[in-house]
Amino acid sequence: MTTPAAPVMRAEGLVKRFEVGRGLFGRARGVVSAVDGVSLEVAAGRTLAVVGESGCGKSTLARLLLRLIEPDAGRIELDGQDLRALDEAALLRARRHIQMVFQDPYGSLNPRMSAGDTLAEPLQLHAVVPAAQRAARVRRLLDQVGLPAEAARRYPHEFSGGQRQRLAIARALAAGPKVLVCDEPVSALDVSIQAQILNLLADLQRELGLAYVFISHDLGVVRQVASEVAVMYLGRFVETGPAEQVFAAPRHPYTRALLGAVPVADPARRGTRTVLAGDVPSPLAPPPGCRFHTRCPHADERCRTEAPSLYAQLHGAACWHADRLAPWVAPGAASDRADLASPEAQRRQRSHAVLQRLQAAFQRGPTATVSSSPP
Ligand SMILES: Nc1ncnc2c1ncn2[C@@H]1O[C@H](COP(=O)(O)OP(=O)(O)O)[C@@H](O)[C@H]1O
Ligand code: SF4
Ligand SMILES: [Mg+2]
Repeated sequence: MTTPAAPVMRAEGLVKRFEVGRGLFGRARGVVSAVDGVSLEVAAGRTLAVVGESGCGKSTLARLLLRLIEPDAGRIELDGQDLRALDEAALLRARRHIQMVFQDPYGSLNPRMSAGDTLAEPLQLHAVVPAAQRAARVRRLLDQVGLPAEAARRYPHEFSGGQRQRLAIARALAAGPKVLVCDEPVSALDVSIQAQILNLLADLQRELGLAYVFISHDLGVVRQVASEVAVMYLGRFVETGPAEQVFAAPRHPYTRALLGAVPVADPARRGTRTVLAGDVPSPLAPPPGCRFHTRCPHADERCRTEAPSLYAQLHGAACWHADRLAPWVAPGAASDRADLASPEAQRRQRSHAVLQRLQAAFQRGPTATVSSSPP
């Protein structure tokens, strides 16, 4: 996908397969196609949100971007530098500029290290400041994430969940990164705490010009943070574009299904909900052609045999028929009365309805089988 500003990070054609079920004689019994040809870009001060159901490959993508795992194919660039070409020492230096925030800070923080030592470690590792200035820099980091100076003496278990995530963010910031890859950073937190952490991330982005790759299964959260959105299905991006456009006029049948409705051409049936049927197919045996064809109401023979590509354009959809689908009408939008309202009021009405649907769809659980029903 392309972003309006020059990208600080780019990935092209990333592929990752995992061999699973190695038996007694060492033969893999299957290959999980976790990430299959993903390309992305993110610019300074922007947030690319990657959204998709559990198991679609989001965390694998995150780990590939940091080269925590090796891709089978593809290219990763940070400021134009090819990360895959770096040896271990050079990769360590580059990691200063790309850091990760995980869903579970307990898993990523050393329980035996005080918060102060946790923050001092990357300062030392990357020689960010002279030793004499480290304590002051630790205090500054704590302050930046809204923790008091005395927190430096405390251990991870002495923090609340939200505070622990603040500490994990401070540690990610310590080395002075340009890109933060956040994998479900608020999914384990209460809703009220989620909002605080999202606000903190937004403030830090404004202050420091950070680029975020923000990964979430929660469309409501994505709606709050995204500048650009990538919708992921079974290892592939199926729709990418500016967040406003993707939410206001989704082009891919999967995105439309996630948003809760597939509008139909017949005005009498406008707003009829045709919701996702069936389960996500196993990534051990992804469907040929378009991976969404087993659940798509528009699938035809071509969809079952030929995989559609996602061309690099501002708002793209990997779908043979995206250009022929009926225009998107947000579910719940009062289409009959819409022409009486001002364009601005119509726009507000539509985005409100979309938000409500988003929340409902993801509370219901994205893999639930739901049949067609009137709105
Ligand atoms: N180390 C691994 N070995 C085998 N399969 C894996 C491994 N890591 C992830 N997978 C599989 O790859 C797919 C994508 O997983 P993941 O990236 O964790 O998805 P998400 O973060 O979107 O839930 C899943 O089917 C998962 O079981
Ligand atoms: S390519 Fe075909 S199966 Fe895939 S989303 Fe488009 S219409 Fe549906
Ligand atoms: Mg994950």
